[in-house]
Amino acid sequence: MQEEIRLKPIGVIHSAYQQQNGTPIQPSLSGDSVGWVEVFPEFEEGLADLEGFERLWLIYRLDRSNPDCPLRVKPYLDDREHGVFATRSPSRPNLLGLSCVRLNGREGRRLDITGLDILDGSPLLDIKPYVPKFDSFAVERVGWFARTLPDEVRADDRFSK
Ligand SMILES: C[S@@+](CC[C@H](N)C(=O)[O-])C[C@H]1O[C@@H](n2cnc3c(N)ncnc32)[C@H](O)[C@@H]1O
Repeated sequence: MQEEIRLKPIGVIHSAYQQQNGTPIQPSLSGDSVGWVEVFPEFEEGLADLEGFERLWLIYRLDRSNPDCPLRVKPYLDDREHGVFATRSPSRPNLLGLSCVRLNGREGRRLDITGLDILDGSPLLDIKPYVPKFDSFAVERVGWFARTLPDEVRADDRFSK
């Protein structure tokens, strides 16, 4: 039996989206949806120098997804099933979400961001700066996504609690 890992949220993500149904499915497909990150006071010192970055990775808990997640899912962008780890489904073991958002400004422990696919009130677990040299790769294979990469798609409630 593997040991359990307990995580402590470092803040909360605020957005205009209250439910999965109708929420953009990735930051790059979300237009200019506006939101903000509230970092808890005990972590504020860790935000020093973050304002120099244009984009951030947010790692958060997909707290309103179905935790009983099947290991094969039918994702938003396909009508065929795929292994959950070959998708970006919000219902997955550990319910971890990863979004690369634009940082527009910082005031103390408030970060103003755009490009959200995140529900209002999502518990924030970590922030990392987006660094193209580290995080961007030219690739030739994108698996089953090659068949379907639309410009705008919204979620429905298939992965909801
Ligand atoms: C397809 S997932 C991708 C999330 C992230 N960009 C990723 O790749 O890990 C995006 C969807 O997750 C859902 N979502 C966002 N925040 C959530 C939360 N706190 N609980 C449950 N579902 C959430 C929304 O329906 C949104 O459309």
